[in-house]
Parts: sequence; C-alpha cells; structure tokens
Amino acid sequence: MNPDRTEPLVGGAGLDGAAEGTEAPDGAGLRLDVGREAALARAAAIVGGAWRSFDRFRPGQPAIDDRVRELLNVGLPEAPTPVLDALNDVSRILDESIAQPRPRYFAFIGSSGLEIGVIADLLAASYDLNLAVDAAAATAVEAQAGRWVAAFVGYPADCAAAFTSGGTVSNISALAAAREHALPRVRAEGMAGVRAAVYCSRDAHYSIVRAVEMLGLGANSLRSLPVDSRRRMVPEALAEAIDADLRAGIVPVAVVATAGTTLTGAVDPIDTIADICSERGVWLHVDGAYGLPAASVSTHAPLFVGVSRADSICVDAHKWLYVPKPCSVCMVRRPGDLIRTFGHDPHYLPRDRAQQHAVDMTLEYSRPLRALKLWLALRTHGAAAFRAAIAGNLRQAQLFHNEVTRYEDLEVFDEPQLSVVPFRHVPPGVRDLDSHNRRLALLIQKDGRAWVASAVIDGRVYLRPSFVNFRSTDTDVLSLIDIARELGARLAHTGTLRRG
Ligand SMILES: Cc1ncc(COP(=O)(O)O)c(C=O)c1O
Repeated sequence: MNPDRTEPLVGGAGLDGAAEGTEAPDGAGLRLDVGREAALARAAAIVGGAWRSFDRFRPGQPAIDDRVRELLNVGLPEAPTPVLDALNDVSRILDESIAQPRPRYFAFIGSSGLEIGVIADLLAASYDLNLAVDAAAATAVEAQAGRWVAAFVGYPADCAAAFTSGGTVSNISALAAAREHALPRVRAEGMAGVRAAVYCSRDAHYSIVRAVEMLGLGANSLRSLPVDSRRRMVPEALAEAIDADLRAGIVPVAVVATAGTTLTGAVDPIDTIADICSERGVWLHVDGAYGLPAASVSTHAPLFVGVSRADSICVDAHKWLYVPKPCSVCMVRRPGDLIRTFGHDPHYLPRDRAQQHAVDMTLEYSRPLRALKLWLALRTHGAAAFRAAIAGNLRQAQLFHNEVTRYEDLEVFDEPQLSVVPFRHVPPGVRDLDSHNRRLALLIQKDGRAWVASAVIDGRVYLRPSFVNFRSTDTDVLSLIDIARELGARLAHTGTLRRG
C-alpha cells in the first residue's frame, strides 16, 4: 500500500489528535476541543434524531424559543464555545427551522434530503475538493454522474454535464451557451445594438428572466408566449413569434421549453417545439429543473418526447431526485458550445495538457463535488428505486386530485400532469375567495401540521401543493385535504361572524 494514502477506515490510526512529535501550527486554535470521534458521534446523533423525526409527520412546527432567540442575537464571538455545546445549539436551531424533508412539507418544490446524499455531502466536504481544475478521481465521478443522469432522463450520454448550484445557474449557463452559439462575437463585444430574443411560455420560471437580464439581452427580449388551457406553450404562437422577429432582423437566441412548470407542473409540447426550432436553426433549451426526472417513468415518458433533441437541458437533482441542495445538472449536447462560452486562459491556471479545466465549461470557479451525492445515491439505491419513488409521487398527485374532486367546498385547478396539484377552498358564503385562500395558506403554515404555500393562477389564488418527497405516505398527502377544509371552514366562519 502506498504509505502516503489516507487510511480509509473511520477510527483508523491517527484519527484523534495530531501525530506525536509534529509541530503545532498557528492554527491550533481551530482544532476541535474534544476528540474528533466524540464530535462526529454528537453530529451523528443529531442527524439520526433528525432522520427519525422526518420518518413521521410532525404534529406542529415549534416556535423559535427564547434560548435560540437569545443565541441568535449575540455579536461576533471572540472566545470559543465547547464544540459539543455549540453542536447542541445547532441542533435546537435546526429543529426550530422549517425543514423541507418533513413528509407533510408540500410548499414550493421542496427537496427531501435523501440520507445517503447527506452522508455524501459530509464526505465530499471532508475532502473539500475543488473541481475547478482536474481533481483526479472526483472529476471522473462528476463526469460519470453526469452520464448517469443523462441516461436517466433520456439525453445523449456524450453531452457535457456541469453540476451547478441550482436550476437558476443551470438555466443561465445553458442560455449563455445559446447566446454564444447565436451571436459568437458578443462575448468580446457585448450586445452593441444587436437585437435578440428568447422565447418561453408565460409560466416559465423566473430564472429565465434573470438569465436574459444577466446575459445582457434585456428583459424586453423575452417573448412570454401564451399557454393553452392546460398551461402548455402554444407552438403556433412560438413559430409566429420567431418568424416575426426574423422578419424584423431580431436574432432568435433560444427557445426555453419547460418540462414541468413550477406553477402547475405543465409540460410544454417539447417534440413539436423541437421541430419549430430545428426548422429555424434556433437553440432549444429544456428547463427540466423540476419535472424532467418523471421522463424516467414509463407512464409519463410520452410527455417528454423530444428532450433528446434539445441543445441543452437542466435537471435539479435536489428536487425530484431527492438529494440535498445544492445539486443541479446543466447538460449541453455539444461540449464545444460550453467551451466557447466559458473557455479562457488566465495566468494563474497554467494549461499544460490538451484537456480543458472544468472552469472552461462552467460559470463558477470554486466548484465543490456536488456530484457525489447523486453518484452515491444512484450507486446505493439503483435507478429503479428512484423511478419507483417518482412514480409513487405521480400516483399520489392523482390520488390527491381525485380526493379533492369529491368535496363541494374544494375546487381543483386541473388534472395533474406531474405532481403539482393547485386547489382552493370554496366554502359557501365567502365572497372573496382569493383573500380567503391567501389567508388559509398562512393559517395552515401557522397551524404547522402541514406546510403549503399559495400561488396565483390567472389572477385566482390557489393552495399549491407539490408532491416530490419520497418520505410522504398517502395519508400524509391526503391529510392536507382535511387540514385545509378544517381550517378553511374555521376561517370562513370567523369571517361570517365578523361581517354579521
Ligand atoms: C422549472 C424551474 N426552473 C428553475 C428553477 C430554479 O431552480 P433553483 O431554485 O434550484 O435555482 C425552479 C425552481 O423551482 C423551477 O421549478
């Protein structure tokens, strides 16, 4: 065995304290004040407690107690706190925080903190690698995890896959590549009067607006296209918009099809959109941050036909692949497009080999090993377990929908396309249903048995649960109906009394 190798076993030689005879560095004050194993054991106990508490729903969300409030008001500490005490403080703080992995957390599009992913994060942080440049085996892990996720969602495995901090950065990165493809001189010269356009449905995620703003295209370059009754982009409107821009001398930079909108889970008609793009030579990006993992489930795969034709796609593994944040993957079909977008040659990064540095293909410099959690999760559980969990969430969304439709005081927005099911409480006698449902969402949050947020669809306020948690049981999912009706009835009653 190579004598320089780290002993890979926990509890191995030299785990506690510095080796005998070594000189103490000035940073000795940054060493733990207890044995490393004791600190790790305390952290493990906290994590174990959290996981046990995530196994079942919590009857309520605890308020922030006085001790924690006090703790969070102290100024910069000069003196040390014993690590075990500080860990206990952290345990209280986290317990009094809103944790998305809880099985009745249905707000926004949550993440569920997959346990093996948490372990992977601890391991990756311990080695604190930087994948800006070649990090040997870790760089190969990132590439392999990229190929795996591409295969999982049906995208060519020889694409370039960059792990990023989230769908927002993935979308910005992909659209940067699209801009470079359509307007190759802009990187050097700026937009300098060039008029360009990006197309998406009006329900696309705000990160697309952010991307066009940051890429210098300007928010006015975004064509927010109409949606059909199921809130999918209308392809004819897309074709007309591109053609009108071409006639006006405006350069179409990219079309963004959303594979699972944040608002309702709608999947744009990707294959038809791909036809329109290829006929006109326009870059197609598929924002699958939320919904694309459902392409792996046979019942829903037809919704995603055409994804393999896209120039770029993105998937947030920290959404529907269950791993902890942050972990998004931006995939670009031709690696050269990313290199043309991000490639550079700074003096502090000597290049003595043909291979590109990762920073020549991505936005960030310091790049942690975000891919390990996905790699370890797929290796530990196998892809089939992920497909089964996603299929389970899809089934729960349908179950929830079917149950909601049984009640006269509830109204559902639409049949679920994926796992977002907006619905609202419509009790008799309440005139302002929008304000009623807005207040109901806040009341449910205050009550704390479940967590859901409101959203506005065509000016109407809905409660908007999304089911993307592998921990949620059918009982958890259906509990939201009882809670919404119970609290909604109370709210309506109080309102009636006040008016009367
Ligand atoms: C469709 C879609 N795209 C992009 C994003 C942004 O992802 P992130 O929050 O990881 O930046 C979201 C977030 O919900 C999303 O639903």
